Amino acid sequence: MKLKPKFITLEGVDGAGKSTCINFIKKYLADKNLKSIFTREPGGTLLGEKLREILLHDEITPETETLLMFAARNEHVQQVIKPNLRSGLIVISDRFTDATYAYQSGGKYVEVKKITMLKNWVHEDLKPDLTLLFDLPVDVSLSRLKSNGNLDKFERESVDFHTRIRDSYLALAKKEPKRFEIIDSNQNINIIEKEIYLVLDKIFL
Ligand code: TMP
Repeated sequence: MKLKPKFITLEGVDGAGKSTCINFIKKYLADKNLKSIFTREPGGTLLGEKLREILLHDEITPETETLLMFAARNEHVQQVIKPNLRSGLIVISDRFTDATYAYQSGGKYVEVKKITMLKNWVHEDLKPDLTLLFDLPVDVSLSRLKSNGNLDKFERESVDFHTRIRDSYLALAKKEPKRFEIIDSNQNINIIEKEIYLVLDKIFL
């Protein structure tokens, strides 16, 4: 069994069904006795969870939003991601920096170079080994969200905003095809489960 990669990130438009897929990943790793921790962004630390409340509910400028995402991320990287990787655990983060490129740059037009500057500062040598991108058409994701109710500020955004997010994610995946695996989330859940297992097999078998 290969020991690498160890840092896996999960991305996608809102309503792509990441939470269900996280359970598949947990089951896969548990069945193989692989030690892992699951965490999320924004969040993953005490400060990060406090900032999450602000980020998901308060109206703030896109630049401030970007800076707060990276403040939360810095704490997450220093306190959770790097220490656990050093201890030999597989770290799975529900969203990471690709989300800032997709949402704050793609969605809200923050300059890419500003995000890259913050990324270089906060990541240093850290980079996801694998990113699963849960992809589905915007009309499907939005109708799923509506049926869930109780939406946060990102989920309440326009169709155009969500289309820009999806396009940004797909462009990021195209730029780094080795790191990204796109999971078509507009399929039967059993097929999605199988696809996830196949992707994980490539890494862990
Ligand atoms: P989620 O936990 O349901 O994925 O919600 C997190 C929300 O925060 C989601 O709408 C995407 C957004 N977000 C950003 O806008 N930028 C970021 O850098 C991150 C990590 C999340």
